[in-house]
Amino acid sequence: MPVNPPEATEMESSVNIQTFLAFLLALTAGLLLAVLVLPSWLPNLAFSLGGDAPKVFWYLARATAFASLSLLWVSMALGLGISNKMARLWPGAPAAFAIHEYVNLLGIAFAVFHALILLGDHYIGFTLAQILMPFSTASYRPLWVGVGQLGFYVWLLVTLSFYVRPRIGQKTWRAIHYASFAMYLMGLFHGIFSGTDSGVDWVQKFYWLSAGSLLFLLMYRILASAMDKLFPQKPQPRPVPAARPVPAATAVPTTPSQSSLTQG
Ligand code: HEM
Repeated sequence: MPVNPPEATEMESSVNIQTFLAFLLALTAGLLLAVLVLPSWLPNLAFSLGGDAPKVFWYLARATAFASLSLLWVSMALGLGISNKMARLWPGAPAAFAIHEYVNLLGIAFAVFHALILLGDHYIGFTLAQILMPFSTASYRPLWVGVGQLGFYVWLLVTLSFYVRPRIGQKTWRAIHYASFAMYLMGLFHGIFSGTDSGVDWVQKFYWLSAGSLLFLLMYRILASAMDKLFPQKPQPRPVPAARPVPAATAVPTTPSQSSLTQG
């Protein structure tokens, strides 16, 4: 008999968030070391990365920018797929939920890389304080870079709220989770208006495809929940977990003859 899978909000995390935060910390420390300390420590290595004004940091910032936005896109698509129940068809709600969580965390790691690697780009000349403080990058498009910075903090908030859900309660968690739409739009408009590649053909197609597909999934979700309200379905019963068989070794002997058999 088909059975209703647990609601997405009832599913449990499959990630150890402490380990992920330790990973983010290590990534940040490693990047700061590579970008700030290595050039003075090993000038020849830094020079070999691209001369005295290495462009490699700028290329890395742009590549990881698209990686981060793509992962956010996939994560949002999976989240919408879970809530509009499309994910039950493929890849299945529990798998979609686990991928949604992993891809989201990976996107954050790429966003951290994208922002911090800019420290090595001497043309743009950001300081660490400017990277951390929204709207402070006076030397380069402060408004749209600021929107990206703000979007990143909202992204962190939305993600961390999931791990403290039992403490903040379902209602508050849900309200915070809705901010993911704003956070995606901030990342998108930040990319469009502060990126150097926005005029490139494939980049424009990427932005349209990303935003268009999410809009489609959102519309589908709104229609699906309207249909659910108009034509409510009978809830399917949850399966009763089968009783576990008692292992033979721990079974209590019932007769003296059985007892003597097991003792050899
Ligand atoms: C954390 C704070 C952030 C800072 C300081 C920052 C900074 C920047 C800067 C300076 C640029 C222009 C680079 C260039 O093309 O020359 C840029 C572009 C971009 N950023 Fe961010 N960003 C941040 C967060 C994010 C986040 C969270 C996302 C994704 C969700 C993102 C996605 C992008 C994209 C797609 C571009 C366009 C790249 C291009 O056109 O080559 N950024 N960012």
